[in-house]
Amino acid sequence: MLTATAEEAAKRTAQGIARAVSAMGTRAVGIAPHDLAAGLPFLKQLERENNLSFLSMNLYPNRGTTPVFKPYLLTRAGTLKIAILGLTGNPGNMLQDKGFHILPWQSILPKILQEVEKQADMIILLSSEPRRVNEEIARQFDTIHILFQSGQGGGNQPPVNINNTLLCQTETRGKSVGFLQINWNSSKTWGKPIPTQLQKEQNRLDRINWQIGRMQKRNTEQALAKNTQFQQLLNNKAQSEQAIQRMQAQIESDGQAQATCSYKNSFIALKASMPEDRSIKAIVDQTRREVNQINRKAQQKRKKQQAGKRQTTGNNKFPEPLQEMAGWPACKKCHHEQTSFYLSTNHAKAWQTLADLDQQYNPDCLLCHVTLPTYDSGQAQEKDLLSNIPLELQGVGCETCHGPARKHSKMPESVLPAKPDQDICLQCHTDQRDKNFIYTEKIQKIRCPAG
Ligand code: HEC
Ligand code: HEC
Ligand code: HEC
Ligand code: HEC
Repeated sequence: MLTATAEEAAKRTAQGIARAVSAMGTRAVGIAPHDLAAGLPFLKQLERENNLSFLSMNLYPNRGTTPVFKPYLLTRAGTLKIAILGLTGNPGNMLQDKGFHILPWQSILPKILQEVEKQADMIILLSSEPRRVNEEIARQFDTIHILFQSGQGGGNQPPVNINNTLLCQTETRGKSVGFLQINWNSSKTWGKPIPTQLQKEQNRLDRINWQIGRMQKRNTEQALAKNTQFQQLLNNKAQSEQAIQRMQAQIESDGQAQATCSYKNSFIALKASMPEDRSIKAIVDQTRREVNQINRKAQQKRKKQQAGKRQTTGNNKFPEPLQEMAGWPACKKCHHEQTSFYLSTNHAKAWQTLADLDQQYNPDCLLCHVTLPTYDSGQAQEKDLLSNIPLELQGVGCETCHGPARKHSKMPESVLPAKPDQDICLQCHTDQRDKNFIYTEKIQKIRCPAG
């Protein structure tokens, strides 16, 4: 279950995603179970406000016989008539008491297919069912030509042809773009993928065309007529087109391609180093700022509630769940050298790193960018640690590695702080966050100098 704040933040994030997706020219969106978490009215509103087509053939209200969203979209690419169908996977218990339900695919897909077969040259299914189910669907219906599956983890998977359905998947969270180019004809039958030689040449031609397009955008025609680099590109283009024609003729005479349809697939990793699209970045930045404000308000509210309770127990200025902590400034007077070394490391700047990204109130990020007595997310939440971070515990402080040291600060000799080991680091330097974490190397960079 989502808390009220988490739900508000998730809704605002969903709005940002819908706006960005719409700005990028997306035509159809298949509705997956987790999209329903914030309820139907909200989802309907997202669709309307952003001019999107949300598709699901099997999402039905508990009362009534019309599906909640359009089951499919009929569209065109050139002269080709395309039907895009949406199938929503099984949501488990998520929909309980929400006023709608999901029909099993067996009871609705055959009927929908019959309906669109007459109207479309190509049928595409967007499915959030698990792969095992999608494979079954592909085996049963040879009239679905492409099946895009989503939300399954498992990363990028090149298309697999199952009974004339190409089953495709791109990794989640927009880390890659899947790029499927197809050559479609009346055979409506997939042939073998284009031989690699030809594929390479076509990739080369794509790159040349892209470069030509870019130069045309930036220069006048007259300037281009004199530009030797541009003329060279035009030459290369002509050569490449000839090469492709030769290869295609060859393939045809070999009888290899017959009259079948062909495709080629690639995945483009969206690395952080790629240039940003300015209008999309503006949407993302704004969304982030607003979500951060939602989280900030929630944090302040919880802080106030805590402050009310604290009056009776408080014996230092830290809120109750952090009473055992001292904060790095308390260590400075006795451990001058270690403190100045610490301040030179990025652990000391970890909170600022989040603030620079408008993420310093995001509980999902804070957990590893501040100083806490525990980094177990469940416990941190239960003890309400994340909404109570005082200034001195922002950033990955001394007590991250040495443990809560308030008692030690008061009576140094009586209680000695701990020395860190690998297990402590791995609470934050997880595989997901730091693929290259090798303790013996990293500890050298971060260990305090001997006093
Ligand atoms: C009032 C002075 C004082 C303050 C404040 C203080 N320490 Fe110490 N600390 C000492 C002394 C003295 C020792 C050495 C004790 C010994 O070796 O018997 C020590 C030892 C340590 C050690 C080494 C433990 C070991 O096993 O050798 C660590 C780590 C440490 N302190 C961390 C901290 C941290 C973190 C803070 C702030 C939260 C802090 N100290 C605050 C005086 C202080
Ligand atoms: C509370 C979570 C947390 C723990 C525990 C933690 N780290 Fe980190 N570490 C971070 C974060 C966050 C950063 C990135 C800070 C930034 O750049 O804003 C970081 C950065 C680093 C860096 C790069 C520092 C630099 O100055 O460039 C090293 C090295 C490192 N950690 C090693 C360790 C080791 C070794 C341990 C265990 C002894 C450890 N960390 C424990 C969260 C943690
Ligand atoms: C499970 C712990 C963990 C969580 C949760 C976490 N981080 Fe970090 N973060 C780290 C660690 C560890 C590093 C240091 C990685 C390294 O040294 O390579 C780091 C480094 C960073 C850096 C600087 C290094 C870089 O990759 O450029 C940024 C920015 C950052 N985190 C942002 C975030 C944001 C934003 C969130 C929330 C969406 C977040 N982190 C959540 C552990 C975490
Ligand atoms: C990323 C983890 C990390 C952080 C953060 C960190 N330390 Fe340390 N510290 C170490 C390690 C590792 C050692 C060496 C332990 C050993 O010798 O086994 C050490 C050693 C020490 C010692 C003992 C030095 C000696 O004489 O041998 C003191 C004192 C100390 N740290 C204080 C601090 C203080 C004060 C801060 C914050 C201002 C701090 N540490 C922050 C990891 C950390």
